[in-house]
Amino acid sequence: ALDGKSTRTLPAGEAALASAVAHILGGQTVAIPTETVYGLAADASNGEAVARIFAAKNRPSFNPLICHVTDIAMAEEFAVFDPLSRALADAFWPGALTLVLPLKAHHHIHPLVTAGLDTVAVRAPQGFGAELIAAAGRPLAAPSANASGRISATTAEAVAESLDSRISLIVDGGPARVGVESTIVKVNDSRIDLLRPGGVPVADIEKVAGFPVSRSGGNAKIEAPGMMQSHYAPLAKVRLNAKTVEEGEALLGFGPERAKGAERAKKVLVLSENGDTIEAAANLFDFLRRLDTCGARTIAVEPIPDEGLGEAINDRLRRAAAPRDIR
Ligand code: TXA
Ligand code: MG
Repeated sequence: ALDGKSTRTLPAGEAALASAVAHILGGQTVAIPTETVYGLAADASNGEAVARIFAAKNRPSFNPLICHVTDIAMAEEFAVFDPLSRALADAFWPGALTLVLPLKAHHHIHPLVTAGLDTVAVRAPQGFGAELIAAAGRPLAAPSANASGRISATTAEAVAESLDSRISLIVDGGPARVGVESTIVKVNDSRIDLLRPGGVPVADIEKVAGFPVSRSGGNAKIEAPGMMQSHYAPLAKVRLNAKTVEEGEALLGFGPERAKGAERAKKVLVLSENGDTIEAAANLFDFLRRLDTCGARTIAVEPIPDEGLGEAINDRLRRAAAPRDIR
């Protein structure tokens, strides 16, 4: 899977930017670094380009993609901001917050991006992604750059492993700073529904809004259809809240103390020795991937508190641990 003969990796910089712009304007996909996770980007107005994303990811086609913009002004070309959504964008963009907004009556976003919904998920990323959108002069559809249902890639190497020869260009910007995907919210009248916890802690959103975010997800039905039970699945089984380690397991640790029998583990990686959920989030997908390839049948995970980014981390881990039929 690693021959990647047709895949090129370029370090983020001027040559990568020129090549990435050419790919985007030519209707091709490019794997790019953002501060949350790596994204597989394509011109959001070009249906064939967007289809290439689905093909590379093997993604269920009912799953809508996030539209990436430079700022509110670019988002306003196709989406409608209510005052609260605007305040949130003002506070957190560019950054790890995605807003689900109504589409304008006339817009150039291809329906494949929104899976035919009348809403669109929008985010202004930081880093190379932002430079590329500005240079290409158009919004980019970009889901996380991993095969569908697999853990998100936070390094260029992880992108190459997950998507290998199905993409032609990977831009390497080093490890993603945040390490989990963006927080997704939708403003409904004066309520804020949390559709996916992520890189911006809910408490930070509540500080700006001045009232609590609603966690029930409202009618979470297909509102964030990517939120399937067995999303983010490694190949090994995942066992949560492990207080002890069984023979042959790998251990994903958190905090200063190790689970009983940790010396039995095939491999131990600690998300954060001093219990920092930000450091833990940045390590999460990379460590899961490394434990997944160490030959253990099960990854035991020590308890992680729900504070700060812990909520997003535990959400991902519950999905990784959920029963699934495809191995
Ligand atoms: O940090 C991130 O958000 C990364 C980087 C690349 O920006 N992107 C990312 O995209 O995680 P993706 O496609 O893996 O996840 C997008 C999520 C999915 O759960 C999808 O169902 C949801 O956004 N979504 C997209 N459009 C939506 C809409 N109109 N309404 C509700 N949910 C939507
Ligand atoms: Mg994803």
